[in-house]
Amino acid sequence: MSVKTLNRHLVSIRDLSREDIVGILDAAKGFKETPNQTILQGKLLGSCFFEPSTRTRLSFESAMKRLGGDVIGFSDDKVTSFQKGESLYDTMKVMSGYVDLIVLRHPLEGAAKLAAEASDVPVINAGDGANEHPSQTLLDLFTIQETRGTLLGLHLGLMGDLLNGRTVHSLVQACSLFDVRFYFISPPSLELPAEICRELKRSSALFSFHRSLEDVIDKLDILYMTRVQRERMSAQADQHLPRSGYVLQPDLLQHAKENLKILHPLPRVDELDRSIDSTPYAYYFQQAQNGIPIRQAVLDLLLGGMS
Ligand code: CP
Repeated sequence: MSVKTLNRHLVSIRDLSREDIVGILDAAKGFKETPNQTILQGKLLGSCFFEPSTRTRLSFESAMKRLGGDVIGFSDDKVTSFQKGESLYDTMKVMSGYVDLIVLRHPLEGAAKLAAEASDVPVINAGDGANEHPSQTLLDLFTIQETRGTLLGLHLGLMGDLLNGRTVHSLVQACSLFDVRFYFISPPSLELPAEICRELKRSSALFSFHRSLEDVIDKLDILYMTRVQRERMSAQADQHLPRSGYVLQPDLLQHAKENLKILHPLPRVDELDRSIDSTPYAYYFQQAQNGIPIRQAVLDLLLGGMS
């Protein structure tokens, strides 16, 4: 693998340089061609999910097993001693004595950082509240490169809940390393957090805010959709959200570039109409499948595999 440097943990996408990202994407190409290998035989992954997940948990587990490793863990904290009042710090400290690497999803922002401080083995952030989801970003970048042949200089639209969407936060920060031009499409109450906007300004990234997809659809190479993260907002805030205008229907794509690709980290709820699935623009199910080679590349890197 050509990746030279990576912190022992993957807590934030900012742990990775542009060169690191390029190296991981290159390695993932090899795993996509040859998914079943035995390079992690004898290694054990601790899969610790304090929040629901379908793709992240199962693609990490699939990635590990396809590389000859094994998995223990939990997908519901109700079956752990967290219910007796044990802290996250102690849970991670103990878990790190049982496994070679921990994958953690937790509802609190900063949980992965705390886990990395507690753990004696590498920790991968599989989503900490509304903060970040770096391995999702790597698979998003892999998918963008797969569909467009490059990451450089693309025009990327992000539509939906940009305030609470952790996949958006990590993706925007990574794409700013590749001179991407951003179009943020959301209601005013769900705009990108101010701190990330400040970071974009500091890195001289070009970006603009929009209330309507129609204003920018003809400019986009990639449209990245997100659902409203209702689990992270009060019922009152939810009540005041516009019920239409941020739902993608085929008629909104009339002026799209022929080779536009639509991505979505999934799960979708009602923001992406199923009639889009049969259009040539839809690429979100292939995107979800790319979770396996990308996570194989990350596991191999952090566990010191032989590739
Ligand atoms: N994209 C994503 O994180 O999906 P899950 O919540 O199903 O893991």
